Amino acid sequence: MHPVANDPNGSTETKRAPLVEARDLVKQFGGLRAVDGMSITLHRGEMMGLIGPNGAGKTTLFNLLAGSLRPTSGEIRISGQAVSHEGPERRIARGVGRTFQIPKPFAEMTVLENVLTGGQHQAGEHIWKNFLQPGRVASQEKAAVEKARSLLEFVTLSGLESEPARVLSGGQRKLLELARILMADPETILLDEPAAGVNPTLLELIIDRVLELNARGKSILLIEHNMEMVARLCGRVVVMAAGKHLAEGSPVEVSRDRTVIEAYLGGVAA
Ligand SMILES: Nc1ncnc2c1ncn2[C@@H]1O[C@H](COP(=O)(O)OP(=O)(O)OP(=O)(O)O)[C@@H](O)[C@H]1O
Ligand SMILES: [Mg+2]
Repeated sequence: MHPVANDPNGSTETKRAPLVEARDLVKQFGGLRAVDGMSITLHRGEMMGLIGPNGAGKTTLFNLLAGSLRPTSGEIRISGQAVSHEGPERRIARGVGRTFQIPKPFAEMTVLENVLTGGQHQAGEHIWKNFLQPGRVASQEKAAVEKARSLLEFVTLSGLESEPARVLSGGQRKLLELARILMADPETILLDEPAAGVNPTLLELIIDRVLELNARGKSILLIEHNMEMVARLCGRVVVMAAGKHLAEGSPVEVSRDRTVIEAYLGGVAA
Protein backbone atom coordinates (compact mmCIF):
# COMPACT_ATOMS: atom_id res chain seq x y z
CA MET A 1 0.00 0.00 0.00
CA HIS A 2 1.13 3.49 -0.76
CA PRO A 3 0.17 6.53 1.26
CA VAL A 4 -3.13 7.88 0.02
CA ALA A 5 -3.61 11.61 -0.28
CA ASN A 6 -7.36 11.36 0.28
CA ASP A 7 -8.87 12.44 3.55
CA PRO A 8 -10.03 9.19 5.14
CA ASN A 9 -12.67 11.05 7.14
CA GLY A 10 -14.59 11.85 3.97
CA SER A 11 -14.71 15.58 4.63
CA THR A 12 -14.88 18.18 1.87
CA GLU A 13 -11.12 17.75 1.46
CA THR A 14 -11.84 14.41 -0.22
CA LYS A 15 -13.52 16.23 -3.08
CA ARG A 16 -10.38 18.19 -3.77
CA ALA A 17 -8.08 15.19 -3.39
CA PRO A 18 -5.83 14.37 -6.34
CA LEU A 19 -7.41 11.60 -8.39
CA VAL A 20 -4.93 11.33 -11.25
CA GLU A 21 -1.40 12.60 -10.74
CA ALA A 22 1.49 12.48 -13.17
CA ARG A 23 4.94 13.57 -11.99
CA ASP A 24 7.90 14.31 -14.28
CA LEU A 25 6.58 12.01 -16.99
CA VAL A 26 8.83 11.33 -19.95
CA LYS A 27 7.98 9.32 -23.07
CA GLN A 28 10.79 8.89 -25.55
CA PHE A 29 10.17 7.62 -29.10
CA GLY A 30 13.65 7.08 -30.53
CA GLY A 31 15.20 10.54 -30.61
CA LEU A 32 11.92 12.34 -29.85
CA ARG A 33 10.71 13.19 -26.36
CA ALA A 34 6.97 13.35 -27.08
CA VAL A 35 6.33 13.91 -23.35
CA ASP A 36 9.23 15.67 -21.69
CA GLY A 37 8.97 16.03 -17.91
CA MET A 38 5.22 16.65 -17.77
CA SER A 39 3.37 16.93 -14.47
CA ILE A 40 -0.39 17.21 -14.13
CA THR A 41 -2.98 16.75 -11.38
CA LEU A 42 -6.68 16.11 -11.88
CA HIS A 43 -8.73 16.52 -8.71
CA ARG A 44 -11.78 14.55 -7.75
CA GLY A 45 -14.89 16.01 -9.39
CA GLU A 46 -12.93 18.42 -11.53
CA MET A 47 -13.28 19.06 -15.26
CA MET A 48 -9.93 20.24 -16.56
CA GLY A 49 -8.82 21.16 -20.07
CA LEU A 50 -5.58 20.03 -21.73
CA ILE A 51 -4.68 22.14 -24.72
CA GLY A 52 -1.63 22.75 -26.88
CA PRO A 53 -0.53 22.92 -30.50
CA ASN A 54 -0.54 19.87 -32.79
CA GLY A 55 2.19 17.44 -31.80
CA ALA A 56 2.50 18.89 -28.26
CA GLY A 57 2.22 15.38 -26.76
CA LYS A 58 -1.37 15.53 -25.44
CA THR A 59 -2.49 12.18 -26.85
CA THR A 60 0.78 10.55 -25.79
CA LEU A 61 0.12 11.83 -22.26
CA PHE A 62 -3.37 10.23 -22.42
CA ASN A 63 -1.79 6.96 -23.59
CA LEU A 64 0.47 7.08 -20.53
CA LEU A 65 -2.39 7.90 -18.16
CA ALA A 66 -4.59 5.16 -19.67
CA GLY A 67 -1.81 2.56 -19.56
CA SER A 68 -1.52 1.89 -23.30
CA LEU A 69 2.07 3.24 -23.17
CA ARG A 70 4.62 2.85 -20.38
CA PRO A 71 6.53 5.97 -19.40
CA THR A 72 10.27 6.13 -20.06
CA SER A 73 10.49 7.70 -16.60
CA GLY A 74 8.27 9.49 -14.11
CA GLU A 75 5.33 8.38 -12.06
CA ILE A 76 1.57 8.08 -12.39
CA ARG A 77 -0.73 7.78 -9.37
CA ILE A 78 -4.44 7.09 -9.33
CA SER A 79 -6.14 7.79 -6.00
CA GLY A 80 -2.66 7.82 -4.47
CA GLN A 81 -1.65 4.40 -5.83
CA ALA A 82 1.42 4.13 -8.08
CA VAL A 83 0.19 2.56 -11.33
CA SER A 84 2.89 3.34 -13.93
CA HIS A 85 3.61 -0.37 -14.43
CA GLU A 86 -0.02 -1.35 -15.02
CA GLY A 87 -1.67 -1.91 -18.40
CA PRO A 88 -4.95 -0.52 -19.79
CA GLU A 89 -7.23 -3.16 -18.28
CA ARG A 90 -5.95 -2.48 -14.76
CA ARG A 91 -6.39 1.26 -15.33
CA ILE A 92 -9.99 0.70 -16.43
CA ALA A 93 -10.51 -1.41 -13.31
CA ARG A 94 -9.11 1.53 -11.32
CA GLY A 95 -11.79 3.74 -12.84
CA VAL A 96 -9.96 5.44 -15.69
CA GLY A 97 -11.86 5.49 -18.99
CA ARG A 98 -10.53 7.09 -22.16
CA THR A 99 -11.86 7.90 -25.60
CA PHE A 100 -9.67 7.94 -28.69
CA GLN A 101 -8.95 10.96 -30.88
CA ILE A 102 -10.11 8.92 -33.88
CA PRO A 103 -12.75 6.44 -32.71
CA LYS A 104 -12.49 3.07 -34.41
CA PRO A 105 -15.65 1.12 -33.63
CA PHE A 106 -15.99 -2.49 -34.79
CA ALA A 107 -17.51 -1.51 -38.15
CA GLU A 108 -19.55 -4.66 -38.79
CA MET A 109 -20.74 -5.11 -35.22
CA THR A 110 -23.98 -3.40 -34.24
CA VAL A 111 -24.00 -0.18 -32.27
CA LEU A 112 -25.34 -2.08 -29.24
CA GLU A 113 -22.65 -4.77 -29.52
CA ASN A 114 -19.98 -2.07 -29.70
CA VAL A 115 -21.23 -0.58 -26.43
CA LEU A 116 -21.23 -4.04 -24.82
CA THR A 117 -17.50 -4.40 -25.57
CA GLY A 118 -16.93 -1.70 -22.93
CA GLY A 119 -18.24 -3.97 -20.14
CA GLN A 120 -15.73 -5.26 -17.64
CA HIS A 121 -15.55 -8.21 -15.31
CA GLN A 122 -18.53 -10.04 -16.71
CA ALA A 123 -18.78 -13.71 -15.90
CA GLY A 124 -19.33 -14.55 -19.58
CA GLU A 125 -15.76 -13.49 -20.35
CA HIS A 126 -14.54 -16.65 -18.64
CA ILE A 127 -15.61 -19.45 -20.88
CA TRP A 128 -15.60 -22.16 -18.21
CA LYS A 129 -18.19 -20.27 -16.21
CA ASN A 130 -20.63 -20.77 -19.06
CA PHE A 131 -20.64 -24.44 -18.11
CA LEU A 132 -20.51 -24.04 -14.36
CA GLN A 133 -22.89 -21.10 -13.89
CA PRO A 134 -25.00 -20.67 -17.02
CA GLY A 135 -27.82 -18.95 -15.11
CA ARG A 136 -25.47 -16.36 -13.67
CA VAL A 137 -23.98 -15.63 -17.08
CA ALA A 138 -27.41 -15.21 -18.65
CA SER A 139 -28.58 -12.78 -15.97
CA GLN A 140 -25.36 -10.77 -16.16
CA GLU A 141 -25.67 -10.57 -19.93
CA LYS A 142 -29.25 -9.37 -19.60
CA ALA A 143 -28.16 -6.70 -17.12
CA ALA A 144 -25.31 -5.66 -19.45
CA VAL A 145 -27.68 -5.30 -22.39
CA GLU A 146 -30.05 -3.20 -20.28
CA LYS A 147 -27.18 -0.99 -19.18
CA ALA A 148 -25.88 -0.63 -22.75
CA ARG A 149 -29.38 0.36 -23.90
CA SER A 150 -29.69 3.02 -21.20
CA LEU A 151 -26.27 4.40 -22.18
CA LEU A 152 -27.32 4.51 -25.84
CA GLU A 153 -30.35 6.48 -24.71
CA PHE A 154 -28.05 8.86 -22.80
CA VAL A 155 -26.05 9.55 -25.97
CA THR A 156 -29.23 9.62 -28.13
CA LEU A 157 -28.24 6.66 -30.31
CA SER A 158 -31.04 4.30 -29.25
CA GLY A 159 -32.67 4.38 -32.68
CA LEU A 160 -29.50 3.00 -34.23
CA GLU A 161 -28.77 0.14 -31.82
CA SER A 162 -29.21 -2.61 -34.43
CA GLU A 163 -27.31 -0.84 -37.20
CA PRO A 164 -23.71 -1.73 -37.98
CA ALA A 165 -21.39 0.90 -36.51
CA ARG A 166 -20.05 1.72 -39.98
CA VAL A 167 -23.22 3.75 -40.74
CA LEU A 168 -22.48 6.26 -37.96
CA SER A 169 -21.20 9.77 -38.69
CA GLY A 170 -17.97 11.02 -37.10
CA GLY A 171 -19.92 12.78 -34.32
CA GLN A 172 -22.10 9.74 -33.67
CA ARG A 173 -18.94 7.60 -33.39
CA LYS A 174 -17.70 9.93 -30.66
CA LEU A 175 -21.01 9.48 -28.83
CA LEU A 176 -20.84 5.69 -29.31
CA GLU A 177 -17.37 5.69 -27.81
CA LEU A 178 -18.58 7.68 -24.83
CA ALA A 179 -21.34 5.10 -24.25
CA ARG A 180 -18.80 2.27 -24.62
CA ILE A 181 -16.43 3.60 -21.97
CA LEU A 182 -19.34 4.36 -19.60
CA MET A 183 -20.10 0.61 -19.51
CA ALA A 184 -17.14 0.24 -17.14
CA ASP A 185 -18.44 3.00 -14.79
CA PRO A 186 -15.24 5.08 -14.91
CA GLU A 187 -14.68 7.61 -12.15
CA THR A 188 -12.27 9.51 -14.38
CA ILE A 189 -12.88 10.16 -18.07
CA LEU A 190 -10.13 11.19 -20.47
CA LEU A 191 -11.69 12.73 -23.58
CA ASP A 192 -9.42 13.16 -26.61
CA GLU A 193 -10.90 15.85 -28.87
CA PRO A 194 -14.59 14.95 -28.54
CA ALA A 195 -15.58 17.96 -30.67
CA ALA A 196 -13.18 17.50 -33.60
CA GLY A 197 -15.04 17.21 -36.90
CA VAL A 198 -18.44 17.25 -35.18
CA ASN A 199 -21.34 19.29 -36.62
CA PRO A 200 -22.69 22.17 -34.46
CA THR A 201 -25.89 20.36 -33.39
CA LEU A 202 -24.05 17.26 -32.26
CA LEU A 203 -21.41 19.46 -30.63
CA GLU A 204 -24.06 21.00 -28.35
CA LEU A 205 -25.26 17.51 -27.46
CA ILE A 206 -21.71 16.35 -26.65
CA ILE A 207 -21.14 19.43 -24.47
CA ASP A 208 -24.42 18.81 -22.69
CA ARG A 209 -23.60 15.14 -22.01
CA VAL A 210 -20.10 15.93 -20.77
CA LEU A 211 -21.55 18.54 -18.39
CA GLU A 212 -24.09 15.98 -17.19
CA LEU A 213 -21.37 13.40 -16.52
CA ASN A 214 -19.39 15.95 -14.51
CA ALA A 215 -22.55 16.90 -12.58
CA ARG A 216 -22.94 13.19 -11.73
CA GLY A 217 -19.48 13.28 -10.16
CA LYS A 218 -17.19 12.10 -12.97
CA SER A 219 -13.80 13.77 -13.07
CA ILE A 220 -12.92 14.77 -16.62
CA LEU A 221 -9.72 15.64 -18.44
CA LEU A 222 -10.54 17.15 -21.82
CA ILE A 223 -8.16 17.50 -24.75
CA GLU A 224 -9.74 19.95 -27.16
CA HIS A 225 -8.71 22.48 -29.80
CA ASN A 226 -12.14 24.14 -29.70
CA MET A 227 -11.40 26.89 -27.14
CA GLU A 228 -15.04 27.92 -26.90
CA MET A 229 -15.88 24.43 -25.71
CA VAL A 230 -12.94 24.42 -23.29
CA ALA A 231 -14.01 27.80 -21.88
CA ARG A 232 -17.58 26.59 -21.38
CA LEU A 233 -16.60 23.38 -19.65
CA CYS A 234 -13.35 23.86 -17.79
CA GLY A 235 -12.47 26.04 -14.82
CA ARG A 236 -8.80 25.19 -15.19
CA VAL A 237 -6.70 24.55 -18.27
CA VAL A 238 -3.21 23.10 -18.61
CA VAL A 239 -1.25 24.05 -21.71
CA MET A 240 1.29 21.63 -23.14
CA ALA A 241 3.90 22.45 -25.76
CA ALA A 242 6.80 20.32 -27.02
CA GLY A 243 6.02 17.68 -24.38
CA LYS A 244 6.23 20.15 -21.49
CA HIS A 245 3.85 21.87 -19.11
CA LEU A 246 3.84 25.42 -20.49
CA ALA A 247 1.10 27.20 -18.55
CA GLU A 248 -1.90 26.66 -16.32
CA GLY A 249 -4.86 28.81 -15.31
CA SER A 250 -8.41 29.74 -16.21
CA PRO A 251 -9.31 29.62 -19.92
CA VAL A 252 -9.11 33.44 -20.06
CA GLU A 253 -5.74 33.52 -18.30
CA VAL A 254 -4.09 30.97 -20.57
CA SER A 255 -5.53 32.50 -23.73
CA ARG A 256 -3.84 35.81 -22.80
CA ASP A 257 -0.54 34.21 -21.78
CA ARG A 258 2.24 35.35 -24.10
CA THR A 259 4.14 32.03 -23.98
CA VAL A 260 0.94 30.23 -24.94
CA ILE A 261 0.26 32.58 -27.84
CA GLU A 262 3.85 32.14 -29.04
CA ALA A 263 3.60 28.35 -28.81
CA TYR A 264 0.45 28.39 -30.98
CA LEU A 265 2.08 30.72 -33.47
CA GLY A 266 4.99 28.28 -33.74
CA GLY A 267 7.37 30.58 -31.89
CA VAL A 268 9.87 29.25 -29.40
CA ALA A 269 8.17 29.01 -26.03
CA ALA A 270 10.26 30.65 -23.34
N1 LIG B 1 3.98 5.77 -31.32
C1 LIG B 1 4.73 6.81 -31.69
N2 LIG B 1 5.96 6.64 -32.22
C2 LIG B 1 6.72 7.69 -32.57
N3 LIG B 1 6.35 8.98 -32.45
C3 LIG B 1 5.14 9.21 -31.94
C4 LIG B 1 4.27 8.16 -31.54
N4 LIG B 1 3.12 8.70 -31.05
C5 LIG B 1 3.27 10.05 -31.16
N5 LIG B 1 4.46 10.34 -31.69
C6 LIG B 1 4.99 11.69 -31.92
O1 LIG B 1 4.96 12.35 -30.65
C7 LIG B 1 4.62 13.73 -30.83
C8 LIG B 1 3.40 14.05 -29.99
O2 LIG B 1 2.27 13.43 -30.58
P1 LIG B 1 0.82 13.46 -29.93
O3 LIG B 1 -0.07 12.66 -30.80
O4 LIG B 1 0.92 13.07 -28.51
O5 LIG B 1 0.46 15.02 -30.03
P2 LIG B 1 -0.91 15.77 -29.75
O6 LIG B 1 -0.61 16.89 -28.82
O7 LIG B 1 -1.97 14.81 -29.37
O8 LIG B 1 -1.23 16.41 -31.19
P3 LIG B 1 -2.67 16.67 -31.94
O9 LIG B 1 -3.21 17.94 -31.35
O10 LIG B 1 -2.27 16.85 -33.37
O11 LIG B 1 -3.52 15.48 -31.71
C9 LIG B 1 4.43 13.95 -32.32
O12 LIG B 1 5.63 14.45 -32.86
C10 LIG B 1 4.13 12.55 -32.83
O13 LIG B 1 4.52 12.41 -34.19
MG1 LIG C 1 -3.72 14.20 -30.16
